[in-house]
Amino acid sequence: MKLCMIGAGYVGLVSGACFADLGNTVYCVDKDLDKVNMLNKGKIPIYEPGLAELIKKNYSSKRLIFTSNIGHAITHSDIIFLCVGTPTSKNNKSADLSYVYKAASEISKFINKFKIIVTKSTVPVTTGDKIEKIILQKKRKKLFEVISNPEFLREGEAIRDFRFPDRIVIGSNNKNTTRKLEALYEPLIKKGATFFATNRRGAEIIKYASNAFLATKISYINEIANLCEKTNVNIEDVSIGMGLDKRIGSRFLRAGPAYGGSCFPKDTNALTVTGDLYKTNLSIIKTVIKSNAKRKKILINRIKQILSNKIKNKKIAILGVTFKPNTDDMRESSSLVVIPYLQKKGAIINYYDPSGKKKEFSKLKNVFFCKSIETVSLKADLIIIHTEWDEFKSIDFRKLSKNKRFKIYDMRNLYSPKKMKKLGFNYFSIGR
Ligand SMILES: NC(=O)c1ccc[n+]([C@@H]2O[C@H](COP(=O)([O-])OP(=O)(O)OC[C@H]3O[C@@H](n4cnc5c(N)ncnc54)[C@H](O)[C@@H]3O)[C@@H](O)[C@H]2O)c1
Repeated sequence: MKLCMIGAGYVGLVSGACFADLGNTVYCVDKDLDKVNMLNKGKIPIYEPGLAELIKKNYSSKRLIFTSNIGHAITHSDIIFLCVGTPTSKNNKSADLSYVYKAASEISKFINKFKIIVTKSTVPVTTGDKIEKIILQKKRKKLFEVISNPEFLREGEAIRDFRFPDRIVIGSNNKNTTRKLEALYEPLIKKGATFFATNRRGAEIIKYASNAFLATKISYINEIANLCEKTNVNIEDVSIGMGLDKRIGSRFLRAGPAYGGSCFPKDTNALTVTGDLYKTNLSIIKTVIKSNAKRKKILINRIKQILSNKIKNKKIAILGVTFKPNTDDMRESSSLVVIPYLQKKGAIINYYDPSGKKKEFSKLKNVFFCKSIETVSLKADLIIIHTEWDEFKSIDFRKLSKNKRFKIYDMRNLYSPKKMKKLGFNYFSIGR
């Protein structure tokens, strides 16, 4: 099939490359000329394991085309996927749909024959209706169908998630269109993905309800971890004991920092706004949002406690600053709150992240990027493990502490408290 992805970000680029790898011809359109030029030169603008190889392979076989010429891409495609951002609005906590509506309006100019327009961006319920209205201003109803196909891939595991999804959700009010999408996804369905079709509004709600539920699970276990710390119970045991119940499930029950990233914070907020709009009080999600904000304060207080409230001039090494491993995405990472706080209180921060230096910290005095675990830990008073990148899972702390003893705050529970104690380290973790 001939496909067009509008927006070559995390979702558009990954799903575009994966669809091309399944044998489709895919136009990846982005309005950001620098990004398009970069991609055409073989440079990948995001950090996502396996993506560079996949793009290279499909680009050279001409199944994957990067362009800023939206008109050409649309006239030559049968199915158009909207993959533009839906960030939090500047004025309130709703989803900013201006990119979606602008893209819809641009698409409408170039519809020359029947097109299926698929919303992959996460959008509030009834957005599909509005996209349809925008296109109807320029084109007849017979020429297009707007459907929803929410994306569930996770950064860091995006290619695997695309290839082996738990489910493919299609929200469409037209059976023929649903069948066409089923045909497009057939290779994944054959490998075991469940294809679930519902109406357009239903699919829009499924995406938000899923993300808000996962955010709830994280906040829930984080609060239980607080209780474990007070009662001398190991949160890991509690997570295992709970997760063995199939109704609960073991995933997303790992206590740690506040949830972050480009999806959970903005989607939980947007969902509560939608609830309010329809006079439905989504009180559980509102509480989760508050709990997550409080989580950042709780961890800061813990750091203060570990350093006996003496932060000024303390050398703090941070291992990992992204919201999760295997991505360079800094959006809503709790490090964006923790690092500036410690810096303001006079700490000297050295951080190392395998995905590289971050522009978010470049203007902060006394915040330095280091290129390895060894350099970041040099003369540190405290090492904080913030993100669970693989290379932080087997650190030789004895070697690192040859010149200076440091404390360790492991926010991801990567090490055993018992073993660390045996090695003589002043080691702190979450809920243990
Ligand atoms: N990042 C994720 O892990 C993830 C997972 C599932 C769903 N989503 C959802 O998918 C959507 C996209 O997320 P993302 O992280 O890929 O965003 P992103 O910010 O990485 O990428 C969006 C891209 O769209 C481009 N763009 C915006 N308007 C355009 C237009 N009119 N024409 C062409 N290009 C345009 C931007 O330049 C940018 O490159 C969001 O709604 C998000 O909530 C994201």
